[in-house]
Amino acid sequence: MDSELHDIVVFVNGTRYRRRVEARMLLSDFIRHDLLLAGTHVGCEHGVCGACTILFDGLPTRSCLMLAAQANGHDVTTVEGLAPSPGRLSLLQQTMHEQHGLQCGYCTPGILMSMTAFLAEHPSPTEAEVREALSGNLCRCTGYQHIVDAVLAAAFRGGTKA
Ligand code: FES
Ligand code: FES
Repeated sequence: MDSELHDIVVFVNGTRYRRRVEARMLLSDFIRHDLLLAGTHVGCEHGVCGACTILFDGLPTRSCLMLAAQANGHDVTTVEGLAPSPGRLSLLQQTMHEQHGLQCGYCTPGILMSMTAFLAEHPSPTEAEVREALSGNLCRCTGYQHIVDAVLAAAFRGGTKA
């Protein structure tokens, strides 16, 4: 049986994309397989791990819990859109690097997106607030301390601005 198709226009990292998608296509699969932006990772596909987190109209959102068709007319930012220019990192990307905030890196794109949005709302967080904000993103490797240090370092150095 043919799946229903939808024509959508989505703005991703400032670029306008027009595509025809199956009604059942997940937004995470659309980003990774159709737009070839594989920085958005997929772990559980059940909204638990946070690896697929993107910014949807500026808000951190699990892209595995949305359909591509729902993104029609909306703004999406993926981890590929965080760096201010080629060859440069956002401040949070830089402090994650400096503080060794990753090991395997599978969780990292989702954490960067969640924490970028968090720092925009909470420019001077406490460690407890950072840990609470991180609770929606699972990391199997780091034990979180270095991620917390990176977020606090980014806040100390001026939020998420590059
Ligand atoms: S893959 Fe989306 S929350 Fe785990
Ligand atoms: S660095 Fe491996 S899951 Fe977080």
